[in-house]
Amino acid sequence: MPETVMDKLVSLAKRRGFVFQSSEIYGGLGSVWDYGPLGVELKKNIKERWWRSMVHEREDIEGLDAAILMHPKVWEASGHLAGFSDPLVDCKHCKNRFRADDPRIKGTPGQPDAQCPVCGTKGSLTAARQFNLMFKTFMGPVEEAAAVVYLRPETAQGIYVNYLNVLQSSRQKIPFGIAQIGKAFRNEITPGNFIFRTREFEQMEMQFFVKPGTEGEWFEFWRAERLKWLHGLGIRPEKLRWHQHGKDELAHYARDAYDIEYEFPFGWNEFEGIHHRGDFDLSNHQRASGKKLEYLDPATNERFLPSVIETSAGADRTALVVLCDAYREEEVEGEKRVVLQLKPSLAPLKAAVFPLVNKDGMPELARRIHDDLRGAFNVFYDDGGSIGRRYRRQDEAGTPFAITVDGQSTQDQTVTVRDRDTLKQERVAAGQLAAYLNAKLAG
Ligand code: GAP
Repeated sequence: MPETVMDKLVSLAKRRGFVFQSSEIYGGLGSVWDYGPLGVELKKNIKERWWRSMVHEREDIEGLDAAILMHPKVWEASGHLAGFSDPLVDCKHCKNRFRADDPRIKGTPGQPDAQCPVCGTKGSLTAARQFNLMFKTFMGPVEEAAAVVYLRPETAQGIYVNYLNVLQSSRQKIPFGIAQIGKAFRNEITPGNFIFRTREFEQMEMQFFVKPGTEGEWFEFWRAERLKWLHGLGIRPEKLRWHQHGKDELAHYARDAYDIEYEFPFGWNEFEGIHHRGDFDLSNHQRASGKKLEYLDPATNERFLPSVIETSAGADRTALVVLCDAYREEEVEGEKRVVLQLKPSLAPLKAAVFPLVNKDGMPELARRIHDDLRGAFNVFYDDGGSIGRRYRRQDEAGTPFAITVDGQSTQDQTVTVRDRDTLKQERVAAGQLAAYLNAKLAG
């Protein structure tokens, strides 16, 4: 089979230290991935950008970091215990398990005409049963029903149960929002496509609490804001589109929902959602906990349960969008080059510093430049192999600038700076490098 773009991206991600399979030396753990030295920087840059735009640049949004483990009643009230499930069928013959809507299944599961897509046996598929996607574990030393707790399947609930704490402690007024970045877990039945659908992932979620009756305008506001933010990541606009959920697609909590989809190498798929959740969550938590969660409007003395407009993005899926969008195969002077054209401010390494050759004072000067820049920028020193090979490695890592110390540098303290995308080289005074990089990395 020919290598697909995804195969190439997965192997680049491993080769350059972006993403490794979890527990690889033991054969890997299904759909769980680890971020290596470059991957952790890329994801951190995305998350920091999100946090800055949500929390630091807005007066009406506060941050939160709620625990992953929550009271089990949260998941009863939120509807996840009853409704967060996928219909599954089992093959009684080969013991494989599938989603009931797996397009490879021929016939109707549970009926004699149904055929197992793996072993091909007819009539061996059970009727569909609901399978809850939440991971269960036990709190304390006794593994009994009363001790069951869940790993959160979304970060949103940590926000709802803290909404009054945040409102009161921060002295916000409605409309206002709470933003959170954190891990979520889903025992997905059909995970795959690298870090697209995994069992452990990170979400960047913001819940915006609004007065009932104003949901429509805030829904539109957040749709526009989120698209603007994605354009700011440098993602090509023609690779993005909206998908409004039909009635049969809406999650159990949603009144209206739009996905933002990206055209991945494996097709158009969702990686962020804007959801109108109404007062579904707050009213359920109010009922189940017996605690009043109403807001008292100080201007009008009205009491009401706010409605929620949610923006929910996956940090890993957004990182995959950024990687897919940046991946290019090009021909340069008759040679193939693979390059990640990451926006410079997102790139894990901002610059690489090379001595042209390892003699004549070049390594000493290159080291000094590297050490001077290191306090302010994530830079990398490389003196291994030909200069061409060093450029190629940094192209694959998405490093936007390569600084080379050559024979002239030791004479006049200037260096060449090669631009990853245009391949143009400029001569810059070594003392001006920090200002040069700062100007290029803005935005
Ligand atoms: N609080 C709403 C919520 O969780 P969702 O559409 O189920 O909504 C939101 O998830 C985002 O979380 C998705 O757009 C996706 O980016 C990310 N996500 C969900 N399941 C995922 C998985 N199994 N692997 C990676 N990311 C996932």
